Amino acid sequence: MDRIRLVGGNQLNGEIAISGAKNAALPLMISSLLTDEPLVLHNVPRLADVKQLERILENHGVDIAVHGRRRGEDEGVGQRMTFHAADIVDTTAPYDLVSKMRASFWVIGPLLARCHEARVSLPGGCAIGTRPVDLFLFGLQALGAEIDIDEGYVVARAPKGGLVGATVAFSKVSVGATHTILMAATLAKGKTVIENAAQEPEITNVAECLVAMGAKISGIGTRTLTIEGVERLHGATVEVIPDRIETGTFAMAAAMTGGDVLLKGARPEHLQAALDILARTGTELIAEADGLRVRRNGKGIQAVDVETDPFPGFPTDLQAQFMALMTMSNGTSQIRETIFENRYMHVAELVRFGADISVNGQVATITGKPQLKGAQVMATDLRASVSLVIAGLAAKGETVVNRIYHLDRGFERLEDKLSRCGAEIERLAG
Ligand code: EPZ
Repeated sequence: MDRIRLVGGNQLNGEIAISGAKNAALPLMISSLLTDEPLVLHNVPRLADVKQLERILENHGVDIAVHGRRRGEDEGVGQRMTFHAADIVDTTAPYDLVSKMRASFWVIGPLLARCHEARVSLPGGCAIGTRPVDLFLFGLQALGAEIDIDEGYVVARAPKGGLVGATVAFSKVSVGATHTILMAATLAKGKTVIENAAQEPEITNVAECLVAMGAKISGIGTRTLTIEGVERLHGATVEVIPDRIETGTFAMAAAMTGGDVLLKGARPEHLQAALDILARTGTELIAEADGLRVRRNGKGIQAVDVETDPFPGFPTDLQAQFMALMTMSNGTSQIRETIFENRYMHVAELVRFGADISVNGQVATITGKPQLKGAQVMATDLRASVSLVIAGLAAKGETVVNRIYHLDRGFERLEDKLSRCGAEIERLAG
């Protein structure tokens, strides 16, 4: 297995091009199942999770083409891809494909809407918590689906003539359940109202894609989405939004090491809560025409308390990275993780750098230290892994991050982007 070796202590200076958002690209790709016409996506990141979803979609019969770079485009530009589900040949999403990535469960919505049946493996547990699917099933049942659990599969059938619009009032905000019911409702008969919908920018990206495909959706970007079902959807061309979690990650890296970095293409309004917190740590953040400039020169890192929340709150996907930053603050801070019950796997690894962290239930208490020391550490999940890279960038001496396949699931050219800004970082082939 590949590892990353880095030697900490260098400031980050330069420019980093922000890639397309993984968590928007995945549901956008899944939306292609809703139409027999091609869906063209621009700015798709080159990531292991994208590759994995390609395999799943191909299994359903989707033809996928990756288009080449155009003259003048630099290598940092995301892929242009076409997804063409002319004919769905298989409505089963098998265990060996779905178990590798939770988001693949979301195919259940479009399959059920278009083919009136789906058999999708339960995604199972995951390193960051139990992550059940009750909200998905509740929403699909509200649209008239009959659901059985059979040998680890969710077997869903639409009523005769297809799904029927309804009010779906979620008891809890779920990104995945919102994507799924939104996609399913576009082809349901009549009106669907999703209450307590997730408002993440990735949901908006998908909703706007569905509108471009002919769906009738109002309330986009709010807690209540209203969908008037249509007979059929058509092809469209849509751009994947820039990755707000990658943006926040590099912003925290620059805050930790010091320096001056322009995050090109970043959309600050997609992570305002995180930027507000970063500003309170003493980081300078400047919105520029072509992105976000992040600067910290000389002064110490202030300790700030954080609670994770659904958008527009502070994202759980930046919690580990923020914790890394707090390990070198000049005080004591508390982080409360409210989204996932087991998302502190990085704590034991950050402690290897000499960090002072204790966890009590949902709350982690971090007492900052003037200096961390490089260490051998192990990546446990995607965002946890990158928090170890951030800590290593600021730590004294050498750090080796093992098991970095997690990083490849969600960060495009991480070592390259950081080394161009002065970090001493390299990949060691396993
Ligand atoms: C999405 O996961 C993201 N994944 C996650 O990013 C992100 O951490 C999460 O949203 C929260 O922002 C993608 O977009 C591909 P949820 P998702 O359903 O949709 C509970 C990353 O690192 N819940 O919003 O799976 C659930 O257990 C990943 O890129 C139920 O109880 O998250 C959790 O506590 C990791 N029942 C909470 O809701 C359900 O049926 C929020 O989860 C569904 C969810």
